[in-house]
Amino acid sequence: MEFGIKVTTPEKQRGACVVVGVFESKKMTESAKELDSLSEGYIKDILSQGDLEGKSNTTLLLHKVPGVQSKRVLLIGLGKEQEFNDSAFITAAQAAFRVLGSTGITDCTLFLADLPVKDCDIAWKVTQIAKLAVDSNYRFDQLKSNPEEIKKPLRKIIISLHGKEDLAAGEQALSQGAAIAHGMSLTKNLGNLAPNICTPSYLADQAKELGKSYKLKVTILDKKDMEKQKMGALLAVARGSHQPPKLIVMEYQGKGKKEKPIVLVGKGVTFDTGGISLKPAAEMDEMKYDMSGAASVLGTIKAVAEMNLPINVVGIIPATENMPGGSATKPGDVVTSMSGQTIEVLNTDAEGRLILCDALTYAERYEPKVVIDIATLTGACVIALGNIATGLMSNDEELAQELITAGEQSADRVWQLPLWDDYQELLKSNFADMANIGGRAGGTITAACFLSRFTKKYQWAHLDIAGTAWKSGKEKGSTGRPVPLLAQFLINQSEAS
Ligand code: BES
Ligand code: MN
Ligand code: ZN
Repeated sequence: MEFGIKVTTPEKQRGACVVVGVFESKKMTESAKELDSLSEGYIKDILSQGDLEGKSNTTLLLHKVPGVQSKRVLLIGLGKEQEFNDSAFITAAQAAFRVLGSTGITDCTLFLADLPVKDCDIAWKVTQIAKLAVDSNYRFDQLKSNPEEIKKPLRKIIISLHGKEDLAAGEQALSQGAAIAHGMSLTKNLGNLAPNICTPSYLADQAKELGKSYKLKVTILDKKDMEKQKMGALLAVARGSHQPPKLIVMEYQGKGKKEKPIVLVGKGVTFDTGGISLKPAAEMDEMKYDMSGAASVLGTIKAVAEMNLPINVVGIIPATENMPGGSATKPGDVVTSMSGQTIEVLNTDAEGRLILCDALTYAERYEPKVVIDIATLTGACVIALGNIATGLMSNDEELAQELITAGEQSADRVWQLPLWDDYQELLKSNFADMANIGGRAGGTITAACFLSRFTKKYQWAHLDIAGTAWKSGKEKGSTGRPVPLLAQFLINQSEAS
């Protein structure tokens, strides 16, 4: 998909489609008014017949509008003008791309980025447009023998601006938006892939390929290396699987060597059966998405590299399957983590924290500025926050606030849960330094409490993406979250330092 940004007017467009907005009560935006006067009231006529009220998420496609050179005019209902906020803008752009993508229109010019949106600047609107455009074009049909052919996909999108003064900011936002969207597509592809294909080795190969395309340093630790590092917790999860585990490390250097990196740690369980504490059969297929944290680290690093951000980022991915089997870890087993702390595994289905704790200890060697782990960690988080917000817990209030802000900026929001010491006692074990579960109550928080015992040496935040990484049901598929959040956070960091 090709993007452009220009200072132009609807009158000058000769392509396949111009897209303009109409607010509720048939109130035309400036660009709609321009088309209306070109067509000598044709658009106003159609609106007054009641064909489009202007309600949010409605559209009207017009052909051969008199006096207008462009072949089509797509009117987008924007909802109430006073209520036109960030989410209304996103709804409008999504509605536009839904129509553009389903009608065989190959190119279009959008007159949406100039609409005033509360608390949002041009850069935000342009980034959203780029992201939503690529998103709407996303298909995952690489495993179908006869993929449905899209007649003519939308290929070229021009974003129009009123004034030159916004052009530079718009151009930067456009390339950032496209980079984020490309990162999201990688994340989605990896998540959607079948778990017999997307194994730990496959993830390692993907990281190596990314390394070649963007000059990253990629190191893969295999089982022997993990044994040398005494990663007893990660190895305990891998025991039941015939697929060899991998610890993937990617280093992106956009700044001098002395600059401390931001480390992203992504849970890479390529299939979570629960192990000996086996999960029920219903919807178990969705546990192929248990590597979504890992996929979001790969996607974010791709976006960062494509944006050429002046910042150092390290991605660490502990990757393994969680399977039952003759040599699998059993409830009651006690394992020694890389940190030296011992863990009583009371439930083998609480495996994410076991692989993450060793990766978090491994992260220490990078002397990180901050560490953020991303994990589909607890079903309890889905109950608490649903599919809207990612769960956030942190040992550093400033870092938490920065992530909350980045979430709002990128429309990829997080909600903070407490990480008070009062919860720690739920992890008491009679036989080891700690248990790997804390009971049903506060399950998302006790999981984070477990991780916090391995992150004392640096500023750290934990993102529980169990509810936000993929959609279930008819529209089952990866969402690409939280790549927009992480990319925005890193953009902000690169501007601050
Ligand atoms: N990968 C799951 C968490 C999960 C479950 C994410 C459902 C999304 C949807 C994780 O490994 C897990 O099984 N967690 C357990 C922890 C429990 C045993 C303490 C859970 O949430 O039930
Ligand atoms: Mn599990
Ligand atoms: Zn899991």
